[in-house]
Amino acid sequence: MKSTSHNSKDKIHILFVCLGNICRSPLAEAVFKEKVRRANLEDRFVIHSSGTGNWHVGEGADRRMQATAKKYGVSLDEHVARQFQRSDFEQYDHIFVMDKDNLHDVLFLDTEDRYGNKVMLFREFDPTPDCYHVPDPYYGGERGFDEVYEIVDRTATKLLERLIEEYDLDHIENV
Ligand code: 4NP
Repeated sequence: MKSTSHNSKDKIHILFVCLGNICRSPLAEAVFKEKVRRANLEDRFVIHSSGTGNWHVGEGADRRMQATAKKYGVSLDEHVARQFQRSDFEQYDHIFVMDKDNLHDVLFLDTEDRYGNKVMLFREFDPTPDCYHVPDPYYGGERGFDEVYEIVDRTATKLLERLIEEYDLDHIENV
């Protein structure tokens, strides 16, 4: 991952993307926001999420995902699902997708091949990856939501460490 050209006062715009924007990417958004808050870096980031599909636009997060998040002290109460837009390529510095279908669907919209350097699989930052996708819990059982939380939590930690390094951000250590 390369930092995009920034002066030190610019905010770093981050977008997490999944399919429906009601399970995985809202969790990644909320967990990453919490880590940014604890590192005292809130004023350096803008953090959002979206889905490649439009079925759930305007809805809150999936109730099962909300319940799991709550169990770990993370609130998804304020989430409203939105769909990924072509204009997001300009709006965001880094776009982290949850699986290879999301990667394909996002890059499909990059018709002039201009933004590929901004788009990455989120799990490339997973310190203990067993594969490159965050499994879609939507049609699975409850255990799937805990697994998604565990993947998202450890991956978001590493992602923030990498961004702190790339952008040379002043932060609070080990919080
Ligand atoms: P998400 O999960 O992409 O993690 O938000 C899904 C949500 C909805 C559907 C599929 C996956 N759906 O088919 O409606």
